[in-house]
Amino acid sequence: MSKPTFYITTPIYYPSDKLHIGHTYCTVAADTIARYKRLTGYDVMFLTGTDEHGQKIEEKAKAAGVTPQQFVDRIVAGPGGILDLWKLMNISNDRFIRTTDDYHVAAIQRIFKKMYDNGDIYKGAYKGKYCTPCESFWTESQLVDGKCPDCGRPVHDAEEEAYFFRLSKYAKPVQELLETGTFLEPASRVNEMINNFIKPGLEDLCVSRTSFSWGIPVTFDPGHVVYVWVDALFNYATAMGYMNDRYHDFDKYWPPVNIVGKEIVRFHSIIWPAMLMSVGEPVPAKVYGHGWLIIDGGKMSKSKGNVVDPYLLAEKFGVDALRFFLLRTFPFGTDGNFTNELLINTINADLANSLGNLVSRTVAMVGKYFDGTLPTERAADPLDDSLLALLRVTPARYAAQMDAFQLHLGLEEVFRLISRANKYIDETMPWVLAKDEANRPRLATVLYNLLEALRVSLILLTPFIPDSCAKAFAQIGADESARSWESASVYGSLPADVTVTRGETLFPRIDAQKMLEELEAMNRPAPAVDPVLPDVSIDDFARCDMRVVKVLSCEAVKKSQKLLKFSLDDGSGTPRQILSGIHAFYEPEQLVGKKVAAILNLPTRKMMGLDSNGMLLSAVRTVDGKEELHLMILDDAVPVGSRLC
Ligand code: MSP
Repeated sequence: MSKPTFYITTPIYYPSDKLHIGHTYCTVAADTIARYKRLTGYDVMFLTGTDEHGQKIEEKAKAAGVTPQQFVDRIVAGPGGILDLWKLMNISNDRFIRTTDDYHVAAIQRIFKKMYDNGDIYKGAYKGKYCTPCESFWTESQLVDGKCPDCGRPVHDAEEEAYFFRLSKYAKPVQELLETGTFLEPASRVNEMINNFIKPGLEDLCVSRTSFSWGIPVTFDPGHVVYVWVDALFNYATAMGYMNDRYHDFDKYWPPVNIVGKEIVRFHSIIWPAMLMSVGEPVPAKVYGHGWLIIDGGKMSKSKGNVVDPYLLAEKFGVDALRFFLLRTFPFGTDGNFTNELLINTINADLANSLGNLVSRTVAMVGKYFDGTLPTERAADPLDDSLLALLRVTPARYAAQMDAFQLHLGLEEVFRLISRANKYIDETMPWVLAKDEANRPRLATVLYNLLEALRVSLILLTPFIPDSCAKAFAQIGADESARSWESASVYGSLPADVTVTRGETLFPRIDAQKMLEELEAMNRPAPAVDPVLPDVSIDDFARCDMRVVKVLSCEAVKKSQKLLKFSLDDGSGTPRQILSGIHAFYEPEQLVGKKVAAILNLPTRKMMGLDSNGMLLSAVRTVDGKEELHLMILDDAVPVGSRLC
């Protein structure tokens, strides 16, 4: 019999900057749900990707001096980029879509045309407040003191030809859909959508732009590009092969469960179903709007310098500990305040103490009392009953929470079992039982029950912390069949004569004070680094004649505050004169005799009436608005005249 299917998505992220812990939270949550569904027998399709068009990306690329495609390529696929981050975080996506992928671009053009042909997209006039220098339309409410929110200059009424989607036509069916109560969750978001957006009256949506070009051209009117949200929302369909031949899974997996952050619920629960209704396809099975990770009660932002870097946390705490923390601490539907203290305390309390200790103590006791292999004789006791009863009910309770995407409550069920097992150790006191040979069957029973409680807990934890669970399974002697979902409900899935193997400590305890100090030091905002310049050819680079030169003499240029005059040995036998504006950073006598790097084949330049035949190379950066400069001083062993290449 074929497995039931389950299709889950994350939003597609804007590659306008590096992703932070908030984005990571969303992807880790979706990954955990995907893993849980696979575990429980579903044929899962898990999609994530990047939303690469739009004015913001176009502007950022321009500022960085690269094309928009080069810009997004670096953020998505470059070292330390989005693909690397998901690999690091052990994200098990089956597919990754980039909205610049050819198949998606062509599919969006067909979808747009389809909605145009069926009359749901029409040409109209976009009216708004226009800022000429910024070439931007604004709505009345976006203006600041009646002026352009970007540049502060006056705006004027203007009209622009644009295409519109008949969103108003779908107000009623969308409201009915929202009222079904299962389409949009958590339920609290439903009223927000109906009261704030539908009841005041849904207006038709402007779905094309002419003010910038980094987008998907409207085929039948090439001056227009498709509004980025139309382009973006349909990713969930095009990545399954909708209106294209790249993939062929649309019928198999549709409709999706769309996991999204709360601020984009409106797009997903109103505009998205309306457009699907327009093209005649089923609406999503569910849109789940999760809360935000916030810092000190507010949004993470670059300007506040409080953006939390997932790479840094994963390196310091381990990927599984970070994944676990995100889902254990914050109820999925509401906002959660991120702090390093909370992160450390959660890891220490739940992973190092409760779970880690249970694994290491149990495995150590089987080693110590039975040389690692349990004997098969057993002796039950009423003391076992409450642990075994909890063991029996936990998988179903966990599943009920997980099916409702209440991931933190799913974990709650597992940790109830883990705590109960730890308490069982105190109650049964294996170290006392071990004193008397006659108690061997009883001692073996206690340890077996502990191993079983661990085994079931680990099965349920696998979607959250897959790598650590695999290691712990190996330690407690659980083979593949004893790791399956089905076996979680079968007491006795470990062999009666199970053999354990001591292994590494799964979650070492963190010294909170020391770690906080380290994080504090590392989290200071890094000074802004200039973006990498556009590519030059290797031939152009090879034409730059850069050499090692030695400072023969150096003096300040009269009447100049900045300039130093250098006489340099460049290996040619004739001293070379170079002027350099670095007096603010060096005194002449500091540099005499030093070997430095210079580019020699620049045209001669006159400064303060003196010739300069080249330029000394230095490392330059700006910190807190102040320029720092360091001459490239080289090792004395490097011969004068050597080329730098
Ligand atoms: N590109 C759009 C989504 C298009 S989906 C068809 C977008 N991108 S985004 O990069 O700005 O945000 C992607 C997701 O990250 C959103 O769901 C957003 O809620 C989530 N998060 C961004 N910051 C977040 C936190 N601080 N906390 C939790 N999630 C956050 O919107």
